[in-house]
Amino acid sequence: MAKSIGILTAGGDSPGLNAAIRAVGKTALGRFGAMQMIGFRDGFRGLVENRSVRLDEAALSGLLTLGGTFLGTSRDKPHRMSIGNQVLDMTDAIVETYHKNHLDVLVCLGGGGTQKNAYRLAQKGLNIITLPKTIDNDIAMTDTTFGYDTALGIATEAIDRLHSTAHSHHRIIVVGIMGHNTGWLALGSGIAGGANVILIPEIPYDINAVAAAIRQRSRQGKNFSIVAVAEGAISKEKAMIMEEAMQMKMQAVNKEDKKEAKAKLQELDDDKDHTLEISEQLEELTGLESRVTILGHLQRGGTPSAVDRLLATQLGTACAEMINSETYGVMMAIRGTKVEAVPLEEVIGKRKIIPLDHDWVETAKNVGISLGA
Ligand code: F6P
Repeated sequence: MAKSIGILTAGGDSPGLNAAIRAVGKTALGRFGAMQMIGFRDGFRGLVENRSVRLDEAALSGLLTLGGTFLGTSRDKPHRMSIGNQVLDMTDAIVETYHKNHLDVLVCLGGGGTQKNAYRLAQKGLNIITLPKTIDNDIAMTDTTFGYDTALGIATEAIDRLHSTAHSHHRIIVVGIMGHNTGWLALGSGIAGGANVILIPEIPYDINAVAAAIRQRSRQGKNFSIVAVAEGAISKEKAMIMEEAMQMKMQAVNKEDKKEAKAKLQELDDDKDHTLEISEQLEELTGLESRVTILGHLQRGGTPSAVDRLLATQLGTACAEMINSETYGVMMAIRGTKVEAVPLEEVIGKRKIIPLDHDWVETAKNVGISLGA
């Protein structure tokens, strides 16, 4: 193939991005004889500004174990980009850069938002292939995403380590775990790390049920508890307010009502400081001392796990095969042990949440973990 390939990483960084870029490049250049690969800096902004770096064999060396993304990333959206003090649709500028660089395909590595942005570019006539990365594991139509396994390991180790200090001081420790609006990271690491309570967005919690579970442990002589809280976890009360705001948005007859409902939903979404509130409520309800640990960006940092390196490499090489066969407008997804090319329109606008009948939910309950319901 005499192909010119553009590649970028967008959205939050995720372990495995460099391994994926390396895999696309090594396979496309080395195996299929592609003409060139160009990396664009800082997500879609690099495309708008035509800031790029030539990725030859030498540039692709030494990337496998590297965390983050050596290309840089941003959360910029092509159709709503801050330029100076304005927010502008920069899609045409991106199309221009694509043609100026004589690209045959643009590979976009990103999460749910990136899939949507990439799809918009495909609709503008660009040849697009995407790869699914995120520590949140919330992209539809793929079993998993690279970055998730590494973050899962980090969060699990953190919960492991919190046990000895919680135990020594007879305390509750509330651990804030990332995951956006899904509970994959909190539930997975909570089970693997042996948390006593796990709160996830998919199951709104009742703080009294959480306190009851902790008091029950105290009665059994266990005067410490680890409470793993997903950043998107919500109380039953908040879930009701959210439901009302959603109804209000759907039933809004005028712009004002719609704006009000949207603002309410945004306010609820931004309110991520609930770990402290949960900790204070639990102190009051149980009489035990409580502390908060928010794992934050630690979960995205550092070298990718073996599983993520493997997945990123598998998806990256499959992407090069798609380029070779000129199959565009698709996301490379992992299904079982096989890679499949899923049309982007089947991916966008969906979020993979934990189904309530998922095995992990039952598993957690079986080992006596409270899900706060
Ligand atoms: O999507 C990955 C993620 O780490 C989420 O878990 C989290 O909600 C968000 O990104 C944090 O974003 P930022 O790094 O922009 O603060």
